[in-house]
Amino acid sequence: MPNPDKPRTDTVLKVGIVGCGAISRNHLEAFAAAEGAEVTVVCDIDPDRARETAAQYGVPEAVGSVAELLATGVDIVSVCTPHPTHEEVVLAAAAAGVHVLCEKPVAVDLASAQRMTEACDAAGVQLGVLFQRRFWPAAQEMKQALTPGHLGEPVLGQCTVLLHRDPTYYSATPWRGTWDSDGGGVLMTQAIHYIDLMVWMMGEPVEVTGRIATFTHDIEVEDTAVATVTFASGALATITATTAADTSLGARVQVTASSGATRAILEYPEGTDGRAVLRAVDGTVTTTPDYPADLVANADLRTINGALIPHHTAQVADFVDAVRQGREPAVTGHDATRSLAVLLAVYESSRTGAPVRLSGEATR
Ligand SMILES: NC(=O)c1ccc[n+]([C@@H]2O[C@H](COP(=O)([O-])OP(=O)(O)OC[C@H]3O[C@@H](n4cnc5c(N)ncnc54)[C@H](O)[C@@H]3O)[C@@H](O)[C@H]2O)c1
Repeated sequence: MPNPDKPRTDTVLKVGIVGCGAISRNHLEAFAAAEGAEVTVVCDIDPDRARETAAQYGVPEAVGSVAELLATGVDIVSVCTPHPTHEEVVLAAAAAGVHVLCEKPVAVDLASAQRMTEACDAAGVQLGVLFQRRFWPAAQEMKQALTPGHLGEPVLGQCTVLLHRDPTYYSATPWRGTWDSDGGGVLMTQAIHYIDLMVWMMGEPVEVTGRIATFTHDIEVEDTAVATVTFASGALATITATTAADTSLGARVQVTASSGATRAILEYPEGTDGRAVLRAVDGTVTTTPDYPADLVANADLRTINGALIPHHTAQVADFVDAVRQGREPAVTGHDATRSLAVLLAVYESSRTGAPVRLSGEATR
């Protein structure tokens, strides 16, 4: 997609986007802004959708299968298909020696995530996974504050995700809301972003206890969940998540460190930048109002996804640079597997009623 305003490099990496649904716009715009990369082909199993997307964004080619897309000789594949289909696309890209940036969740079960990371490691290609909220300036700053020499080791975390989804969110998209085609509910699709932030800040999770429930939506999977997480350091955290709230109250990640200092970030309304809303350090408390009165709480999904574009852009820029420099991207397939392991353990614990120990393999 030619963009005359962006800086040029000698070689331009060719990018193919697989899946031309709601989130593909974020990838198309993010790669359009990225230095040294250009979307040269889009793919969808619905050929009309692929053609329309190509026409709308000025992409030279539209194809109907991943094999055709890989045959065009791309350097990077961006995966924007429903979660359970991520694996087949990632494995095909790895087999072709192509770097992959995959939407979250990387997969819907651990064996699948591990096959993906192993295939990419063996092929020597980068696997990055979209957790664009890590690129909020407030998240980067909070992560930095929790490193040794600053506030001390994290000891207590709280991850609270209170969202609204209209019933049509589940009914209008056929793959949403079932265990087979969606892999889970609020934990798998929404809370995973904030679980990822918490795990990123707190370290290696080792044990999870949780319960899930479906209160409001007419879906197989959970619309509500609670859990506790124990980390290798001994730190403890809680997760509370729902899409059954009548009014979205956003998502908050709060961490208390061994010094006794507490920091929190809040994303409200959904889709906007997470803001540092609480700093309680050395007896001094700074807060910003949690809930400004004059805003739309339940924005539509297109608005929410649109508001995420700057963060997709930051993560895509990091991924393109990682490929160019031959370094790991900021969020790897292994990181994404670790966050996935936590929420899958909530499902298992809810099923069995027992705590679930996480295997080091998945969570390191
Ligand atoms: N990072 C974020 O904040 C964020 C936000 C929304 C969605 N997502 C993720 O993006 C992924 C897609 O979500 P969406 O809302 O765009 O879904 P969507 O249903 O709007 O779009 C999916 C598209 O993929 C196509 N498709 C399905 N299987 C395919 C295949 N094998 N090959 C090619 N195309 C195929 C479908 O025809 C459809 O056009 C999901 O994994 C979701 O979790 C991430």
